Amino acid sequence: MKGTVAVTVAALFLVAFLGYYSETSRYTEVVGTGVSEGVIDNSTNANVHEVVTKHLHLNLTLDFDEKVAKGTATLTMEALVEGLDQIDLDARYLEIMEIKLQDGQTLDYKFDEPNPNIGPKLSIAVPKTIQKNEVFNLTIGYSTTNKTLSLNWLEPEQTAGNTLPYVFTHCEAIDCRTLAPLQDTPSVKSTYSALIRSPKDIKVYMSAQNLEDWTEGDSRVTSFEMNVPIPSYLIALVAGDLEYRKLGRNTGVITEPIFMEKCVNELSELQDSLDVAESFLTKYEWGVYNIVILPPSFPFGGMENPLLTFASPAIIVGDKSQVNVATHEVAHSWTGNLVTNRNWENFWLNEGFTKWSERAIIRKQRGEEFYLVSAALGNSSLYGDLELYGDDSTFTSLHPNYEGANPYDTFSRVPYEKGFLFLTHIQNVIGNDNFEMFLIIYLDKYRMTSITYTDFIDTFLEFIESYFSDQERKNILSKIDFHTWIFGTGPPPVQLNFTTSNLEISRKLADDYLLGKGTPENHDVFFDYFSLLKCIFLQRLIDRAEDATIPILEQIDIDYQLTNTIDPEQKYLWFQLCIMAGYDKVIPSVDEFLGQYGRQKYLLPLYRALNGYDHDLAVEFFNKHKGMYHPVAVVNVGRILNPDSY
Ligand code: BES
Ligand code: ZN
Repeated sequence: MKGTVAVTVAALFLVAFLGYYSETSRYTEVVGTGVSEGVIDNSTNANVHEVVTKHLHLNLTLDFDEKVAKGTATLTMEALVEGLDQIDLDARYLEIMEIKLQDGQTLDYKFDEPNPNIGPKLSIAVPKTIQKNEVFNLTIGYSTTNKTLSLNWLEPEQTAGNTLPYVFTHCEAIDCRTLAPLQDTPSVKSTYSALIRSPKDIKVYMSAQNLEDWTEGDSRVTSFEMNVPIPSYLIALVAGDLEYRKLGRNTGVITEPIFMEKCVNELSELQDSLDVAESFLTKYEWGVYNIVILPPSFPFGGMENPLLTFASPAIIVGDKSQVNVATHEVAHSWTGNLVTNRNWENFWLNEGFTKWSERAIIRKQRGEEFYLVSAALGNSSLYGDLELYGDDSTFTSLHPNYEGANPYDTFSRVPYEKGFLFLTHIQNVIGNDNFEMFLIIYLDKYRMTSITYTDFIDTFLEFIESYFSDQERKNILSKIDFHTWIFGTGPPPVQLNFTTSNLEISRKLADDYLLGKGTPENHDVFFDYFSLLKCIFLQRLIDRAEDATIPILEQIDIDYQLTNTIDPEQKYLWFQLCIMAGYDKVIPSVDEFLGQYGRQKYLLPLYRALNGYDHDLAVEFFNKHKGMYHPVAVVNVGRILNPDSY
């Protein structure tokens, strides 16, 4: 009986995945640390079928005058085939000096025609003497250039303390190849180590254990080691006038001394977030958890570099309203860093799972209402993005088909929020306890590997096979349309409803303002709302922007002083709305805000709105502020304002 059902289930899936199954089934066999046969990752030039990196050692000098990092990258590689004669790597905007095998032999290399999306292939000719399964070292002497996308060099004036220069990296998704020549793909995981030379006053941290640091003349040398295999996009470095402070048992914060006190206060619950995560997920495998609060040019809210989460200073609001960003990055310690998407088409396995865990942690920490409002706001933002792309765009699917495109171009709320909804739907179907049990099985099974959706589905099928009766299993499978959830474009196949009475009131308040009859009687309720509930109000106004007239916005501003709020999440929604409605009184404040934070979550929608309102003004603001923005943000804003020149 059991066997028959299993066969039926398998057959059902075969039918469901017809067209995809035959292409992707080759992904299901995980070899070693996550490399399998067939197409692995379209965003890499590396010949990962033939050779894989086991360890990377970086020996680099940070040259703050030239704004380059130079030195060597030594790749310890294993040949997977007999007669390996070529090693293809990703290397973009790098100047290569010399490539040598461990015996000192200098190797010939060439760059092919650069692919505009993923950069060129660096092909290195190797003597055919390397045997299958042989492990060997390849050392590449190189320097980064001023075209790099992964390094953001800052002058002292661009930091909080104004005293020393600063540099930080950002590699996700495919920019590690602009930091070092390597196999820049999440399908390959390796350990890494580094020796970094910096000016003596400048402290260096990496996404690795800090072993030692010592001075040599005017230089400081810092050594690092990461013993857990990680994908290249998690390699990270930050250097500047930095200080470390312990927050809890195994948590800490790193930032400029002048900013430390504020950060320590804001992040006082970080240890608890990590403890809560560990209480329902698996063991925390990384030892300590440190978060760096960066200068304002950091283009994201947060980035989950292991042992060294990066976060925007925009999350240090003063009222703890944005600490969920840190919670999100904590959750990545499991989903993303331990279990990793094998290619960027499966990005939702990183971000959707992490959104789910982030909200599960917050639900346990702050309760049901907070959870529901967070999910509802996420849902609205999803629908905003679906509209932006159009319901039949492949980018609205959890498995976008972007054939060689830069994964950045597909970045949206979709993998986060549609992924969250998919997992929440499964959670609703099988029950919370079962879902958490499944998650533990999934994390244990795939820890330290890279996977695709087929692995997730395989494990889910195995799970319900083991824990449910035939009848229950049939029932469960009849309620989950995997194919549409993963491959369908547009809205998800099941609508989930997240609501609370405060949330309804907040939306109704927005609707009442939009009637244009002045201040609603109950308008005071707004003052007691936590940030997310206020954002629900603002999001509702945006969703109904066609009714938002200038007098209405003026009244709202008088009542709630939104133009002057300290909360950047409210600000960017409010300014977007005002620009859309032509309420130009806010323009000087928008100008100021655009010069305050380089977080793309704020920049992109605001520049998009400004561009629609007054293109020349948008360009003027951009030219004024772009010196502060990260190279990646410059490209992305540039594309909005002038699609042809970026
Ligand atoms: N890993 C992402 C950031 C990222 C993704 C950078 C893809 C570059 C390419 C990070 O974990 C993230 O999702 N950050 C969010 C936080 C939010 C969801 C709480 C952000 O930066 O807004
Ligand atoms: Zn994330």
